[in-house]
Amino acid sequence: MLDDRVRAVLGRLEAEEAADRAAGMPETQRSLSVGPEAGRLLFALVAPNAGCEVLEIGGSRGYSTLWLAAAARILGGRVVSLESDPAKVEAWRSNVADAGLEEWAELVEGDAKETLPRLEDGFDVVFIDAWKNDYETFFALARGKLDPGGVVVADNVFSNEVVKAYAAARQADPTLVSVTVPVGSGLEVTTVLRP
Ligand SMILES: C[S@@+](CC[C@H](N)C(=O)[O-])C[C@H]1O[C@@H](n2cnc3c(N)ncnc32)[C@H](O)[C@@H]1O
Repeated sequence: MLDDRVRAVLGRLEAEEAADRAAGMPETQRSLSVGPEAGRLLFALVAPNAGCEVLEIGGSRGYSTLWLAAAARILGGRVVSLESDPAKVEAWRSNVADAGLEEWAELVEGDAKETLPRLEDGFDVVFIDAWKNDYETFFALARGKLDPGGVVVADNVFSNEVVKAYAAARQADPTLVSVTVPVGSGLEVTTVLRP
């Protein structure tokens, strides 16, 4: 459920991201979070699925994690979020706790190229939002962890040429069903027919 506690932390994080951008904080230090529209779409993909197992690659300070975990909470799912930046890991933990979502979200610290292969299989929804040159690698790694019919969502199709090529490759693959959803910076939503 999206309760007042979650809404309050989401609102604070939106204000922090706007202030950091206005202050010219370097991109690597900023949250670089999805916007609220993309957050709502992530919520909608997870909320109706009982026991939904969600993998997030690029947790940052936890903004998208909050949307995913609040949705997973409804029918008993959970989120595993991967993040390598120690400052963001600390902020993630504090924001998830402030939102009351610790029971539904777990953070695995470290380079996702190393931590992801060690995770158990069985994810239903994967959200890729790390550095763009790694999307192909992360799609291949995540595909091996998906249940049949699993969905992979990738952010930044409209804002990055590499992700545009990633989206085109997904749409040309007959073992997938993939569409670019014009929400936020463009989300590629891919159903994997054969994991
Ligand atoms: C665009 S931000 C994620 C924003 C977040 N999904 C949100 O909407 O709030 C990308 C994040 O991916 C993390 N990242 C990039 N490459 C990574 C890797 N190989 N392993 C773990 N985290 C990584 C970065 O540290 C950064 O925090």
